[in-house]
Amino acid sequence: MNRTPLIAGNWKMYKTGSEAVETAEKLAKLSTGIISTDIMIAPTYLSLPLVTQKLLGTNVKVGAQNLYFEKEGAYTGEVSAEMIKDTGAEYVIIGHSERRQFFGETDKSVCKKIKAATEASLIPVLCIGESEKERDGKNTFSILDKQVKNGLKDFVSDDLKTLVLAYEPIWAIGTGKTASADQVEEVHKYLRSLIGQLFSADFAKNIRILYGGSVKPENVKKLMAIEDVDGALVGGASLDPDKFIKIIGFDN
Ligand code: 13P
Repeated sequence: MNRTPLIAGNWKMYKTGSEAVETAEKLAKLSTGIISTDIMIAPTYLSLPLVTQKLLGTNVKVGAQNLYFEKEGAYTGEVSAEMIKDTGAEYVIIGHSERRQFFGETDKSVCKKIKAATEASLIPVLCIGESEKERDGKNTFSILDKQVKNGLKDFVSDDLKTLVLAYEPIWAIGTGKTASADQVEEVHKYLRSLIGQLFSADFAKNIRILYGGSVKPENVKKLMAIEDVDGALVGGASLDPDKFIKIIGFDN
């Protein structure tokens, strides 16, 4: 397998600028020498320039948690892909379930955001996942199918060379309820084959598919051992560098 694992920390709406810098510096120190795994943290927009500056030349890359798809304009409160790129950030999380749930994000806006990200040469991390009700109603695969097909509508694989997919079952986020290895394996396998059908077998073989939802030092090894799991998108456990480094070092 030639997919480099990616362990990403989504800091959500936690940490002031100074707290973010302190945490990032500590994490960079702890992760010195790690070359077999890509590492990314996504602080709030406000901390992006501070954190990217501090992390220059380290193993820890930086991402934003969202973007707005227009290049510029009268869109009070929004931030464009170019503005994120200009801070030195390299990644952007798109379509997180919290954005879909609380801020009206739809597959249609997700699709536009992916386009804006790729045009600005940011690496998009597209988040998808079903709710508990959807899983109980046996709709997991139809929901994921819709999110992937609509989120990636009208692209060709050449547009999406760096795309990362993150499967985050909503019922596992911040709940301590991790999906079982069987559930994760089934979904990741399905997603890779869906990507293969939509684009090409080669593209599907190379795309990184992360799992997110209550990933902790205690369960990361088991999750990373699953064939189609290429990394983790971590919320709560990424806020503490001593904990996060144990997730990053899953292969030790
Ligand atoms: P937790 O790791 O806190 O469950 O959050 C997962 C998540 O939403 C990452 O984007």
